[in-house]
Amino acid sequence: MKKSTVTLTNNQTGDSYEYSILESTRGSKVLDIRTFFSDSGMFTYDPGFTSTAACESTITFIDGKKGELRYRGIDIEALANKHSYLETCFLLLNSRLPSEKELHNFDLEIRHRAYLHRGLQKLFDAFPDNAHPMATLSAAVTSLASFYDEHIDMENEDEYLEMAHRIISKIPTLAAFAYRHSLGIPFVEPDIDLGFTKNFLTMMRAYPGGKMHLSVEGHEDIKDVEIRALDTIFTLHADHEQNASTTVVRGVASTGAHPYVAISSGISALWGRAHGGANESVIAQIEYIGSVDKVKAFIEKAKDPDDDFRLMGFGHRVYKNFDPRAKILKGLQDELRDELGLDTELMKIARKIEEIALSDDYFVSRNLYPNIDFYTGIILTALKIPKSMFTPIFVIGRTVGWITQWIEFKKDETSKIARPRQLYSGK
Ligand code: SDX
Repeated sequence: MKKSTVTLTNNQTGDSYEYSILESTRGSKVLDIRTFFSDSGMFTYDPGFTSTAACESTITFIDGKKGELRYRGIDIEALANKHSYLETCFLLLNSRLPSEKELHNFDLEIRHRAYLHRGLQKLFDAFPDNAHPMATLSAAVTSLASFYDEHIDMENEDEYLEMAHRIISKIPTLAAFAYRHSLGIPFVEPDIDLGFTKNFLTMMRAYPGGKMHLSVEGHEDIKDVEIRALDTIFTLHADHEQNASTTVVRGVASTGAHPYVAISSGISALWGRAHGGANESVIAQIEYIGSVDKVKAFIEKAKDPDDDFRLMGFGHRVYKNFDPRAKILKGLQDELRDELGLDTELMKIARKIEEIALSDDYFVSRNLYPNIDFYTGIILTALKIPKSMFTPIFVIGRTVGWITQWIEFKKDETSKIARPRQLYSGK
């Protein structure tokens, strides 16, 4: 049997170095070059980590060529179509789907933990009304660390899970409070009688006391179709392997800081428009284009190498095919168009962008396909969620992924502090 190794030869000195190929259970193999610097005195050079596996993980698998995504081995389409977001949270944290009883108990615990300490609520008053909810959310999650010192030194599985359940349940409350602060209106407390997603929409929309909008027909309750649409969006955002914000979360985990400041760092990293901030930029871009006949000119601008304008919602470091989450959202848009009253003008412009970009050689030759952010905004707009809350919605979905990755890092006995080197080209 051929040895599974790679030999690197330095043609200047004639030295050779042999490294093992590590087998994966799915996808690409990995070359173990952990001793390369001590063997050769040289560093490998990979800014942006385009060819670097930073860790071993069993949480999420992506096949960029096939456009495949799995959480703990289960395909994303099965999860989005047959399971709730809370079931997906349980799956990510426990490596299996919950029994009916486990799901019931998990749901109850998340409902109980959704409340915030009074002191934390006062934090929002420090922010101006026009503060972007991502700024207040990131600050509030950092402050959460000061209310739960006990999570600095956890020893057992139960402590890890309690810490994880706590942050998963409080993020929607913090996000809704950040939104209501930005409107200058009173907070609506979590309602223990409501499930995860309906509770969030109620905290966003209800009048003080939890009363829903009153119309001639009576109180306009939140529709099941709205809950299903948002719950699916949370599931599709739950985790995504070693993306930029998860890499930041693992980096902060490696220094031994409080888990909630690692999550807050992930929130900050996600805000960038090259990452989770793209969903807000997609709708802003479509609204700016304004009509179908102006799309072509915008596509040309995105192709211009001298213009740093990029088509938001297109391209991905890993997917060189359709993002499977984008496919599911596109299907959801078509399914909910009438029920949710999707803005067909926005949809028409989005579909025109898609049609032109997917046939244009600039995008085709670079494998630039629509990603998850291209489709999220139109559904969220129909749910009466403002653009400024699109990335906080991404945070709500992704928090379970970040904290699961954080726990995996902590349990990995080989993990070390993140400390890359550099190619020095100074004096
Ligand atoms: C998310 O990593 C994850 O998993 C992230 C995420 C998750 O769930 O965590 O999936 C969520 O962040 C999705 C991506 C959202 N961002 C956007 O939609 C912003 C627009 N997209 C780009 O900024 C870009 O495509 C990235 C950042 C997503 C990927 O960048 P890469 O992999 O570094 O690719 P690149 O910049 O090297 O681009 C390769 C080529 C370049 O042209 P050339 O130098 O070869 O001539 O493609 C071009 C780029 O200029 N290009 C684009 C483009 N994206 C890449 N040109 C126009 N419009 C675009 N959107």
